[in-house]
Amino acid sequence: MKTEKTITGNVDPDVLSYTVGDDPILDLELAVWDCIGTAAHVTMLSEMSVTPSVVTADEASKVKKELAKIIESAKAGDFTIEESDQDVHMAVERRLTETLGDLGKKIHTGRSRNDQVAVDVRLHIKDQILALEEEVAALSNSLVEFGKKYNLVPMVGRTHLQPAMPSSIGVWASGHAEMILDQISNIEAAYKINDACPLGSAAGYGVPLPLNRERTSSLLGFARPLHNVFGASMARGEDESALLCALAQLMAVLSRLAQDVIIFSMPEFGYFTLPRAYCTGSSIMPQKYNPDVMELVRSKTATVLGLATSSLSMLHAMPGGYNRDLQDCKGLYMKGLSITRTTLRIMAKFIDGMGIDEEKLRAGFIPGVFATDVALRKVAEGTPWREAYHAVRDNLEALSSEDPDAAVQAKTHEGATAGLNWNFYENRISDISKSVTDRRNDFNKKMEELLG
Ligand code: ARG
Repeated sequence: MKTEKTITGNVDPDVLSYTVGDDPILDLELAVWDCIGTAAHVTMLSEMSVTPSVVTADEASKVKKELAKIIESAKAGDFTIEESDQDVHMAVERRLTETLGDLGKKIHTGRSRNDQVAVDVRLHIKDQILALEEEVAALSNSLVEFGKKYNLVPMVGRTHLQPAMPSSIGVWASGHAEMILDQISNIEAAYKINDACPLGSAAGYGVPLPLNRERTSSLLGFARPLHNVFGASMARGEDESALLCALAQLMAVLSRLAQDVIIFSMPEFGYFTLPRAYCTGSSIMPQKYNPDVMELVRSKTATVLGLATSSLSMLHAMPGGYNRDLQDCKGLYMKGLSITRTTLRIMAKFIDGMGIDEEKLRAGFIPGVFATDVALRKVAEGTPWREAYHAVRDNLEALSSEDPDAAVQAKTHEGATAGLNWNFYENRISDISKSVTDRRNDFNKKMEELLG
């Protein structure tokens, strides 16, 4: 039987390629994080009080120098993972063994690929969540800028898509911004779940060595170690799923914004104008400028919802401890992140380029839009609300067109057309940016200490 040689034994080539799956490509994203995780592990090993020492302080710094070189080549796109490596973990070990000889063979002491990949994924997710939060802040900022620019321009507020009450561009734009900003809480929940270090759990049952798990956790900037070794091995996949659920909800929010943009830029409404460069045409109909970007936001939302479902589906039937199924959770969260982050960026660009047509916006103010305001004027004159309501409802044809600007000015309470607090949005956005910057700085400091 023909087999292929791997670090863990000789394997049938078809079995190898089925089990390796997309790891040689997906794991390239983890290469930097794998080196960083290894640097922490080796540092901790060199401090461990056993005689003879597993690695000396001198050896640890040799390994870290080599890891720094691999990080450079991974960043430059020069690092490759062969199918026979199976994954990034063994590709890095192979490289360290090629360059450092026997020393390279020591680095995996007291570690399994199970805790290794789990820590890689967590470092990667931490970095990605920070970037994601910046993009959430940037899109919210685009909406806030759009809202401020056209703040009091009247726009019909709709329920059931039917004309409902006087509203404004300011309310529309900042309403969407607020929904998006609120998603930070879900993302932060995923961040918190992710902010614990599985390293030292090894295959999921620990090792008979005095590992200092607190130390590796702190070297890598995690809030704490994942305490229980078995739990640490099961947390893989759960962590990615928590993130995917947050991404799914964020995408669902973005998709509603996309749907509004599609509807209100239809010529029948014509509220929003779309830059031609942001639309694509038809091969047969010369007149077409389609909002494809926003349509794709809808479809990509469906994809991300599917990714979250796939991830949870993989987990629910799995027994405790490591199972190879977990490998397949990796591509799911990576794809979810990539789709969501690109969507945030393209939507910000789109909103920045969007304009309005005031005439079309005002034309939407048919008399019925003022019905509630009319009833409330009767209330102001002393009529009980239900009576005022019926008086208007029984005489709808008596309603006439009113001044939309006056209606927009009349709603002064918190969060309404004339009661929007733009500082509230600006502060939330700058708080996100500041918190991301602080955490990035802290992490970079940790990395400097670890790798020099
Ligand atoms: N590439 C593997 C994964 O992502 C690494 C862990 C392999 N562990 C194992 N016990 N076969 O899951």
